[in-house]
Amino acid sequence: MARVTATTSDIEKAAGVLRAGGLVAIPTETVYGLGANAEDPSAVTRVFQVKGRPPSHPLIVHIGGVEHLDAWGEDVPATARLLAERFWPGPLTLVLRRGRRAPLEVTGGLETVAVRVPDHPVALALLSTFGGGVAAPSANRFGSVSPTTAQHVRVELGDAVDFVLDGGPCEVGVESTIVDATGDTPSILRPGGVTREDLEAVLGRPLAVPATSRVRVPGQHPSHYAPRARVVLVEPEKVIAEAELAQELGHQVGVFVPPALADTVVKAHAVVTVPGSMAAYAHGLYGFLRELDQRGCDLIIASLPVEEGLGLAIANRLRRAAGPRPS
Ligand code: TXA
Ligand code: MG
Repeated sequence: MARVTATTSDIEKAAGVLRAGGLVAIPTETVYGLGANAEDPSAVTRVFQVKGRPPSHPLIVHIGGVEHLDAWGEDVPATARLLAERFWPGPLTLVLRRGRRAPLEVTGGLETVAVRVPDHPVALALLSTFGGGVAAPSANRFGSVSPTTAQHVRVELGDAVDFVLDGGPCEVGVESTIVDATGDTPSILRPGGVTREDLEAVLGRPLAVPATSRVRVPGQHPSHYAPRARVVLVEPEKVIAEAELAQELGHQVGVFVPPALADTVVKAHAVVTVPGSMAAYAHGLYGFLRELDQRGCDLIIASLPVEEGLGLAIANRLRRAAGPRPS
C-alpha cells in the first residue's frame, strides 16, 4: 500500500480547486496526473498550457467507477465492458466512442475518448468527493519523464499547479496500458501497467501491439519519457564496455547495469543496478532516469529487458527515451 499523506481535508480542498476551474496534481498507481475538471474547457485548456502539450494530443479522463462508463463512452462494446470490470480500478485505459460528458477539448477534437479508473485510495477518494471526471495527463512537461512522487511534481511544475495531493510514491511506476476498445477487436495503443498477457487471458485471444513498441525505427519516435541525458540502448552484454568507453571519451556516463552483471565494478559517473523483477524495475524506472539527470550525467547507457509482462512497457519507455528529440 502506498504511503499516503493526503488527509480528508486535503481531498475536500482538492475537489474545491477542481470545481473552481483549478489544477490539482493527483497520485495514481501508475504516475502522478495533472488533473482538471474534464467538463470545464478552460481548465482543460490550462492543462495543455502548463504541460506545453499540443491541444490535438488527447487527455485521459479519470472516473470513479465502472458505473460511469456509459456517461463518458457511447455504444460501449461488450469486450470493453469485460475489460473494465476485470481490470478497474487499475492501470488500464480504454479508448471508446466519445460519450455525452466528454468534451472535444479533452479528446483533442477526436470522436473517441480515453477513460480509466485509477487504483489509488487518494485518487478514488477525490473522484468520489468531486463527483465528475478528472482529465489528467502525466504531471510533467511535454516529452519529459513522468513523475512518480509528489516531490517530482513540485520540482517540475511548481506554482503552475494549484494544489498537489501527496499519495506517496506510485506503486506501478509506468503509465496505464491504453487499449483501443472502440470496436470488437481491441488492440494495444500503448503498453503499460496491465500486461498484454493478462489482457489476452481475459479476452481469450491474441492482442495486436503497435509495431513501434517492438521494432526500433530510427527517426520515427518523437522523444518522450526522456531525461535530459541522451539515452543509448545497447545489447545487455555490451552495456559495461560501452559505458566505460564513453566515460573514457569524456562523457559523464550513467549506466543501467543488467541484473545478471549486478556485482561488476563499472568505471562510469553513476551506476544504477537494474532490479531483476520487472515490477520493481517498472516501479523504479522514472526515478532512476531522474536520478541520473540530477547526478549530472549527459549520457545513459542501458539495454532492453525481455519484452514480456511489464518488460514490454519498460522497453517501450526506454525506446522512446532513446528516440530523437523534438528540435
Ligand atoms: O497512467 C496513466 O495513463 C497516466 C495517469 C495520470 O493516469 N496518464 C497518462 O496520460 O499517461 P498522458 O496524457 O501522459 O498519456 C495519455 C495518452 C496519450 O498518449 C494520448 O495520445 C492517449 O493517451 N490518448 C488519449 N485519448 C486518446 C484517444 N481518444 N485515442 C487514442 N489515444 C488517446
Ligand atoms: Mg505522459
